[in-house]
Formats: sequence, C-alpha cells, structure tokens
Amino acid sequence: MAERENSGRSLAAAALATGKSALARSFRLHRPRGAFCHAGWCQQCQTVLPDGSRALACQTPAEAGNVAGLESADPLRAVARIAEKWPPWFWETRMLSPEAARQPWLELLRRMSAAPPLSTSTSGECRPWRRSAADVLIVGGGRAGLVAAMSLALAGRKVLLVEAERLGGIARFLPVERGRVPELASAARRAGAQLREGILCLGLYDGATRALLIGPDGPETVEISSLVVAAGGYDRLPAFRGNDLPGIVGGRAFLRLVAAGALPPAKRIGLYADAAAAPRLIEAARAYGLAWAWIAGPGALPLAAERSHPHRRLRRASGDRCVREVEIDPDLRLGCDLLVLGLSQPAYELQMQAGRRAVLSGDPAAVRTAGPALLPLLELGEATGLADGPDFVSQVEAAVQAWLGDPHGNTPAPQDHVSAEKPDPDAFLCLCEDVRVRDCERAIADGFDHVELLKRRTGAGTGPCQGKLCHAELMACLARAGRNPALPTVRPLLRPVRLDALAGADDGA
Ligand code: FES
Repeated sequence: MAERENSGRSLAAAALATGKSALARSFRLHRPRGAFCHAGWCQQCQTVLPDGSRALACQTPAEAGNVAGLESADPLRAVARIAEKWPPWFWETRMLSPEAARQPWLELLRRMSAAPPLSTSTSGECRPWRRSAADVLIVGGGRAGLVAAMSLALAGRKVLLVEAERLGGIARFLPVERGRVPELASAARRAGAQLREGILCLGLYDGATRALLIGPDGPETVEISSLVVAAGGYDRLPAFRGNDLPGIVGGRAFLRLVAAGALPPAKRIGLYADAAAAPRLIEAARAYGLAWAWIAGPGALPLAAERSHPHRRLRRASGDRCVREVEIDPDLRLGCDLLVLGLSQPAYELQMQAGRRAVLSGDPAAVRTAGPALLPLLELGEATGLADGPDFVSQVEAAVQAWLGDPHGNTPAPQDHVSAEKPDPDAFLCLCEDVRVRDCERAIADGFDHVELLKRRTGAGTGPCQGKLCHAELMACLARAGRNPALPTVRPLLRPVRLDALAGADDGA
C-alpha cells in the first residue's frame, strides 16, 4: 500500500474519519453543509473553535477543534424550511416599508443568519508590506509550475514561483507522481528559479503589472512583466438535485483525504468522474487499498473499473442529513455514504484579471478564458484543462518553449459550449447564498438577464467562495436562456483574507 501523505489531519478530515459529514450550516437557509474541497476555497466548512474564533474546519489542525462540537441542532432550520419556498429576493422586496423599520428588519435578518460571528480578536502583528520584482511570476508549484520555472530560468528569466501550499500541488497526493516532486523542485532551483511555499497570490493590480501576495511574512507586491498560471483547478460541483448534501466531496479533496487516511474503510464510496479525472482517482484508491462501491461518469471509464456505469448522467443525490443514495439516470439508483465528484474547474481568476474573457467549455461546462491579455500570459497544466497522463510534463515543456518564442501569442480559445439539457430546478447553483437553479431562471425571466443584474437580484456569486462553486452554472443558466454567458468582474482578493493580515504599513521601499 502507498505511504500516507504526512501533513497532519485537518478538523474536517478528522470529522469525516469518524463518520461525521455535516460540519456547518448554510448562512441563509440553515441547511447542513459539509466540507467539499478540503482545500480552503469552497468556504462551506466555517465553524467556531472552542476559543471562540471563526475558522475553516478544513484549514484547522484536528487538535485545535472539537469534532463533537461541529454543526449541532439548529432551531432556526424549521423557519428556514418555510423560507425555502421563497426566492432569495423575497425579503428585500417586502421589507422596504415603512422606511423607519428597514434597519431593524435588516438587523433581525442578520441575526437569523447561520453565519458564525466574526472573530473580534486580531493577530496583533502589523507586518510591513514588502516589494519585489520578477520577470515572470509563476502561480502554482505543482509539476507544471516547477517544469516552467526550470525552463524559464534556464532561458535567462528572473523567475519567482509561488505556491499556496507545499510544492508539488495535487501531485503530493498521487502515489505515483509524488516521488518526482523533489527532483523537479531541485532542477528548478538549480536553474536559478526562486520557489516559495505557503504564499497565496491574491490578485493582480495596476493593469496586471503588480501581483499581491500574502504569506507567513505578511503582504508583498511584486512587479511583474509576465505571468504563468499553473494554479491547477478546483473541484467542480455540477447542478443536480441534492448537490449541497454533506458527504459530497470533490475528486481533489478525495485525493487529500485518502492520502491522509481519513476515510473509514466501512464507508460506501461512490465515484462520479469524467474520463479525464477517473483514472487517477481509481489509481489512488487502489494504491491506498480502498474499494469503490461503484463508479459512474458522463463519458467513457477505464475498462478495468469494476461496477462501472459509463455514459450516465448524475440526476440527484438524496439522504436525510448526508448523502445516502444517488440516482444516475432514472433507472439506476446506487447507495453511498460518500460521493466523490471527479469533475474539474480549471483556475481562471488570474487570467480574467489579466484581461481575458470568460467562455464556457465542456460538459458539465467549466469556465475557461480566451482572448488577449494585458501582459504576456501562459496557462499551464490543469489550469488549461490538461489532465494527467504520460505526456503531461512533455506537453508542459512544449507549451513553455512555444511561449518563449511568442509570448504575446494567444492560446486557442476553448470551444464555447453549453449542454442544452436543463438541470433540476431544485439543484443549488450557488451554495454560499443558497440560490437554486429555479431562482436564477425566474430572475432571468423577470428581466434580470445580465450577469451583473442576476448577481445582484439573486446573490449568486457574491458569497465567500467568490464564485468558484457557481460561476460556471451561472453562465450556463444565462446561455440556456439565450443571454450573454458572461461572468461578473473578477476582482482581487481571490480568497477571503483577514483584514489584519493586510493591515501592515507600507515600508516605502
Ligand atoms: S471544505 Fe473547507 S473551504 Fe472547502
């Protein structure tokens, strides 16, 4: 059996290992929610720690929290069940008068939210902002980023690579690939690239000439001449009925969990994955000695997979407080206690901030970017939708060499595509704000048919995941209605950050 990844268990992983999937409540409807990404971006696992501070359970060491104290009975859920019948704008349209009551109403609504209270404590540290410069900023320290760092440094560029977690990206959790990471990192360092771990790129400013980074030493701005996005991707949550149930996790989350030994063997684990993601998920499960209850997907599946159901569409998940069964096409019902979704949303935000436009591609559709950028920009690896495979590294090398020859060349635009098939109207489109497909469809029919209007009317895309869970579904909804499937402006910061983390003085250097 493959060796476990030794980075310690999070509170969310520890909870799952004991069979507890529900960790939090949705803000508006108080619905039980579980950790989906286990990587800090979906924001569905917000909890209050024993010391009163607010934290993401997936980003908190297990020892700092209390599994038993996560997500308890919620008396307001009964009220929220009634509120589920009303659209998200119900309150705003009915509580405008009398004018004197608006503020108290607003205050009451705020108090009825399930959002944990904001922490009042601060870190107490005020770190000065630092400044630096690089010819090329590479965002993402997985295999693609490391290969690019080496190639660009060998070509004489001053390269800064930043990785939000540890070098290796998702390859850290792939039994076959993880051994290659130290070798790739050493080669990049020997070539002269600067590699920094634990540094999150929060966004681009000043016409994409500066990037804002944050890490253990505080905030930093980097003047850049060109940008390589090798930030991988997000787990894609498609719209199907019951898609917000605890016990549904993304494929990348599964790789983290299985590598950390956080999946109890007794669980029935079902996999719904596309042809690109299925092989590595099946391989990882095999390497760690885990058996799938069943495997299904929208396309072809590896022939070796037992109990596999290719070319099937996921219709609904059901269960009381967590997933217990899924319906894959009307004729097939399969039991599971954990549903793994191996579907991908390539990272797209930095490309958007660099001036590119959003397009929809694939089925289920994912946001991709196309068109000219404000600076020389290269997307690499999974950020391009490229899947693992024997040619992964050589494809990345070829892309870097081509870019060195023509840094302003546009990568070919992905095919605009949206499936004509309508998702279940009860499916959640935006989990942060509890917005369903039917809410968006109704708002579009009422004339809120531009993405900025739709966002304001429904709240979709305004929650703490900042659209990572819902942008593709939002665009698809507009496209199905024959409207322009654009995205709202994607601004920094790419993830919520505590204000005191950015409150340092500018050193004026
Ligand atoms: S599961 Fe914690 S942020 Fe996604």
